[in-house]
Amino acid sequence: MPRDPVAKLLLFGATGDLARRMLLPSLYNLHADNLLPPDLAIVGSARTDHDDAGFRDMARDALGEFLADDRKDEAKIAAFLDRLSYQSIDLSDEKSFPALADKVGDVSGGLAIYLSTAPSLFEPAIDGLEACGLAGPMVRVALEKPLGYDLASSQEINDAVAKAFPEERTFRIDHYLGKETVQNILALRFGNGFFEPVWNARGVDNVQITIAETVGLEDRAGYYEGAGALRDMVTNHILQLLALVAMEPPARFDKDDVRDEKAKVFRSLRVMKPEEVPGLTVTGQYFDGAVGGKIVKGYDDELGYDSDVETFVAIKAHVDNWRWQGVPFYLRTGKRMAKRQSEIAIQFKPVPHSMFAGRGGLLQPNTLVIRLQPEEYVELLVMAKEPGLDRDGVRLREVPLKLSLDAEFAGSRRRIAYERLLLDLIEGDQTLFVRRDEVEAQWRWTDAIRAGWDANGTKPKHYPAGTWGPPAAVALTERDGVTWQDD
Ligand code: BG6
Repeated sequence: MPRDPVAKLLLFGATGDLARRMLLPSLYNLHADNLLPPDLAIVGSARTDHDDAGFRDMARDALGEFLADDRKDEAKIAAFLDRLSYQSIDLSDEKSFPALADKVGDVSGGLAIYLSTAPSLFEPAIDGLEACGLAGPMVRVALEKPLGYDLASSQEINDAVAKAFPEERTFRIDHYLGKETVQNILALRFGNGFFEPVWNARGVDNVQITIAETVGLEDRAGYYEGAGALRDMVTNHILQLLALVAMEPPARFDKDDVRDEKAKVFRSLRVMKPEEVPGLTVTGQYFDGAVGGKIVKGYDDELGYDSDVETFVAIKAHVDNWRWQGVPFYLRTGKRMAKRQSEIAIQFKPVPHSMFAGRGGLLQPNTLVIRLQPEEYVELLVMAKEPGLDRDGVRLREVPLKLSLDAEFAGSRRRIAYERLLLDLIEGDQTLFVRRDEVEAQWRWTDAIRAGWDANGTKPKHYPAGTWGPPAAVALTERDGVTWQDD
């Protein structure tokens, strides 16, 4: 991949939560490992009034709070802070852009802009950037979610961005694609020969994708109330995972081939009719309960008023193409669940005939579990014979064939997803960013689910915090004779 690094990075939302927790620590880590272009200048910008020194102090505090202790190196932190400067801005006021353009200065060496802002400010921000000369051919832009709340609003944002930034210079972020284990799905599928012959409707019975979180609202009421679990997690992260599992092998690991294949999967998702939605989806909202031994409040109590926003969703999806015809993809995500656990489980078909049946041996179909977090491992559940002389029949048991990526790569540092994405942005590699047609196909599919909920007056079912969601989510798979892979 030819690298085309920019000389400057402009970070909007530079004093916000994402910047403090993720972006500044990620940039520092890249700096500390000499991975940033040596002269890369980083300009922070946000509404907050700061001068350069004030911003550097804020960044120093953020690094102090969010960097791992073994990464803190005073000399490196000081050198990193030297890269930073700051310009406050009101994105809705075009008169505040010229000062920003002055601060950024010459962009002939290339500029990457990272826009982490409320969706309502995307349009004015893009207009302002264009008007002040910060949108020319040397400038690329990264967009952080949420990019709208449905297909129409996302198209509006994408149209506004496209006026100033063509697709080759637009980098839409889904931070799941920056995760090492998520990229490992590609290595597992396309770096090994033995999965491919069974990776289809002939070999696979069903696929399960779970992103379970233990956190609740986390002071994000304003955002979450307008989103809910479907928009917050399914339209982006869960569907990206589904695409990586379901896509055809790309010819090359590059931005066109990988994204072409993912887009085909999104276009093959079976769009639900309103009357089908209640049978294929379950929504939930947590009430009070205990997570990890700690008593926690219910969603409405956290908010301070009654809400019908879903904090949990489970969906039975289908990918209507040759490879996956008839294979259900069970998807689920929720807040305040029993444990933090993201994983993909591929449940294979049973053997066609069991020679052990006459001797009492019971077989279970094989399952491949790809655990994304908090641990990182790949586990194939296979049948084995229990030791013994088999006088009372053959005893067979499912045992794990486990590859722990944590242990296998114990010597390599695990990077924050944003380190990878920021570096790719700075160097101009779009492979792990989401293309417009992908986003639109994702919205088209989830909008139909939401329309079905509206048409049927569906309200979330309550589940106690610290559980795996409402019982109806269990019924969603059990009716098909399938059990969620929990442990
Ligand atoms: C974000 C969502 O995109 O992803 C959050 O807005 C969610 O609600 C987060 O908590 C989960 O990310 P991770 O990396 O912690 O799994």
